Amino acid sequence: MTAPTDATETAEAPRALHPEIARRRTFAIISHPDAGKTTLTEKLLLYGGALHLAGTVKARRAERHATSDWLALEKERGISVTTSVMQFDYHGFRVNLLDTPGHGDFSEDTYRTLVAADCAIMLVDNRKGVEERTRQLYEVCRRRRLPIFAFVNKCDRVGQEPLELLGLLEQELGLPVVAAMWPVMENDTLQAVVDRRRNIVHWFQRGGDHGASRVAIETSPLSHEDIARHTSQSVADKTFDELGLLDAAGHEWNEEAITTGALIPLYFGSALTNFGVEPFLDDFLKLAPAPTPRAIEGGVADPGDEAFTGFVFKIQANMDPKHRDRIAFVRIVSGHFEAGLQATLGRTGKPLRMNLPQTFLAQERMHVDDAWAGDVIGLHDRGTLRIGDAIFTGKPVAFADIPRFPPEHFSRITIKDPLRRPHLDTGLRQLAEEGAIQLFKGDPQASVPDIVGAVGQLQFDVLLHRLEHEYGVPAKLSSLGMSHARWIEGDAAAVQRAIMMRDRMLLYDAKDRPVLLFTNGFAVRWAERESDGLVLKEFPD
Ligand code: G4P
Repeated sequence: MTAPTDATETAEAPRALHPEIARRRTFAIISHPDAGKTTLTEKLLLYGGALHLAGTVKARRAERHATSDWLALEKERGISVTTSVMQFDYHGFRVNLLDTPGHGDFSEDTYRTLVAADCAIMLVDNRKGVEERTRQLYEVCRRRRLPIFAFVNKCDRVGQEPLELLGLLEQELGLPVVAAMWPVMENDTLQAVVDRRRNIVHWFQRGGDHGASRVAIETSPLSHEDIARHTSQSVADKTFDELGLLDAAGHEWNEEAITTGALIPLYFGSALTNFGVEPFLDDFLKLAPAPTPRAIEGGVADPGDEAFTGFVFKIQANMDPKHRDRIAFVRIVSGHFEAGLQATLGRTGKPLRMNLPQTFLAQERMHVDDAWAGDVIGLHDRGTLRIGDAIFTGKPVAFADIPRFPPEHFSRITIKDPLRRPHLDTGLRQLAEEGAIQLFKGDPQASVPDIVGAVGQLQFDVLLHRLEHEYGVPAKLSSLGMSHARWIEGDAAAVQRAIMMRDRMLLYDAKDRPVLLFTNGFAVRWAERESDGLVLKEFPD
């Protein structure tokens, strides 16, 4: 089976999408920290012509650290906590790469980003295989039936045997894995990859600049003699033995199964030296789905629909300390967007004029006049937009599957200087709207919330850091020692009984709805069992 050779050939998708939509590819990279996501991202940008010399993303990262205190936290912790979107063109494709934070405590952000993606690249280290964080993210992808493309990284140095890795991946992932490319290894380092469908070998030329620029590739038809000539007889024998095994016992190539997330194609390479990156990118973009439909209440929003629809999957305040603004990231699900488009915000039913939207390249922003289904645009927001909001020009739509996460950490927040209270309130409100934390108060009559909830502990560190550096409010947190929140409903007597028990605490959310905090899951189950007429919900309606 052969794949088309460029974007125009994939343009006639069965849904006869507009060519502008058919050439879009919107995806995220999922991996465990240190597997090489930053390096691969940089190389994709390099190959997309969006960066001239790789190393720039990291250099920029360092530059940003110098100018932004907020990002200093990233540096201190050695983690990436912001999500950005990068757009570039490659061989006729318009690529939207959604960058996700690597740290587990930011899973909320990452999971929502996966809702905005149409497929994902799963990056694994050749020594470690599927690690914890990758496994969690993969589960989210699998539940959403997101097509996955696996890339085994760091093949420039000794790792597990490729056949062993393939077996381990299948076992771990619970889905069939098919080798799209196969490595030719000599002295435990990658020399070439065999394109199994096209029967060709891509030979990589070692460059002198440590992967800062594109690597030269020589391509030859697959033959034992040729591999032996380039390497040695034993390397050619081993490669052909492995290829023979894959042909005999491996899974069949099935493009439909790949695009529906039922089969995972496997690639090998080294992001650091660029080996294998270009053949992977070429193949991946051809196979990756064009923008896919999204479930809405009562049906489906299809990218081919004429009316504009989109949803907000992330809000970020003060992205750039020089701008001090909030950006709402909108994934366009259908239709065409032009600057100034007059749409409706589903939650309020009010008109929303989308002026001066932005698109992103690495950390740079550019105004965008025109965007299509599959793209992500950034809207300036003054507090009107919320995560999960639907925006549309035609019939009202409500998107069905934007995941929500219950907070698991709760702390009281206090400040030394009472005069800074208004700043604290503004900071908390804005960060809560962004989805960075959730707010609760002990007394429904009190206007000032004083309890914050977060999905991960690290969110608290970020909160304190941002309050101090962006809002000028040094604050302190003290843990409540509670880990489960349940919104409660039921008759007054049942609610009263539930409140009176030990090991729980009554709070009110931003909309004054009562929420009970419990010390652990056992206490939640106990409350459910003992209190007749009480309804405990993980999320409010
Ligand atoms: P992450 O975003 O997934 O956390 O990983 P990142 O790209 O920052 O890479 C983590 C480490 O792995 C880096 O080394 C990076 O150079 C290295 N790396 C990435 N891809 C490859 C590869 O293909 N082969 C090899 N051998 N190493 C790779 P570091 O020493 O932590 O950082 P640095 O000093 O190189 O920047």
